[in-house]
Amino acid sequence: MSIVGKGRILTGDRPTGRLHLGHYVGTLVNRVKLQNEYDTFILIADVQALSTHWKNPEHMPDIIRQVVLDYLSVGIDPSRSKICVQSMIPEIAELTVVYGLFTRMNKLRHNPTLKTEAKSYGYMSGDDLIAGFDKLTYGFFGYPISQAADITFVRANLVPVGEDQVPHIELCRDIVGRFNQLYGKGEEIIPIPQALVGDIPRLRGLDGQSKMGKSLGNAVYLSDDDEAIDTAVMKAVTDPQKIRKNDPGHPEVCNVFAYHQVFSAPDEVEQIACDCRNGTLGCVADKRRLAHVLKELINPFREKRAFWEKRPEDVDDILKSGTAAAKAEGEETMTRVREAMNIRYW
Ligand code: TRP
Repeated sequence: MSIVGKGRILTGDRPTGRLHLGHYVGTLVNRVKLQNEYDTFILIADVQALSTHWKNPEHMPDIIRQVVLDYLSVGIDPSRSKICVQSMIPEIAELTVVYGLFTRMNKLRHNPTLKTEAKSYGYMSGDDLIAGFDKLTYGFFGYPISQAADITFVRANLVPVGEDQVPHIELCRDIVGRFNQLYGKGEEIIPIPQALVGDIPRLRGLDGQSKMGKSLGNAVYLSDDDEAIDTAVMKAVTDPQKIRKNDPGHPEVCNVFAYHQVFSAPDEVEQIACDCRNGTLGCVADKRRLAHVLKELINPFREKRAFWEKRPEDVDDILKSGTAAAKAEGEETMTRVREAMNIRYW
């Protein structure tokens, strides 16, 4: 199929660790589906990850490799999706500088995702990012501008992401709109992208409290073996009012049930709800069922992962050729940007 006329996707992840079920449900499933219909670029945003992890850059090569294996294991097809590395594409940094020229600080200051993250990293105490200026770095504060450059250096028009990313896509739309208005003379130099948020509600961590994360120890990873899945699921929090096995439960407040709703077959989900309510299904048995379903999902991922793990040079080639293809698009974009701005001097 020809790529001409296809829409273009750019999406990506921060390489801060292995990817987990939250990534899978929130965006990876969507990407696997969409790669057949769209010209797809998947960006491993290492510079963005370093905006919080700059003290430990030495882990980056290994983490990037793990993330690529995660992608390949769930069915990202390198012949359809171009996987690329942010820091190896200087055009992204160039475009970030351009966007920073006319983006006001207040656009960043009120970004809810930036605020939540700043709090979780301890960069901010009160409710205003300004109060954290002592600790906040320029790179972290400005990463949403860099993310706008991530999306637009390939001139993407669709961005499949989790819902927490929507404020960043909105900022991107705003920036591109301004850019076109300032320099486009009525022409759209850079397309205005749209967010595509998956329709599955966000998965909480197995503890039911917060989002999934390595630091929180409440995640199931796409590379987990059966034992790790068992351990994670058995630690999960269920309905606090169901203390003994035969107590009638309340699936609507149970986080394990929330997982069943996402991962188990619809008729099973109904049966589980019914058996839990009438007290015939205990929490331990219920968790075993969930662990089983998750293993069925993840085992094929692990097999595919093992296939690629044995071919490290092919994995390198996938990353190199994806990055080269993305960089070529970035060069084209920067030519257009420089021309529009009259800064293409020779
Ligand atoms: N901010 C995203 C996250 O934390 C990662 C990311 C970087 C991204 N650049 C992107 C997502 C561009 C979509 C498009 O998950």
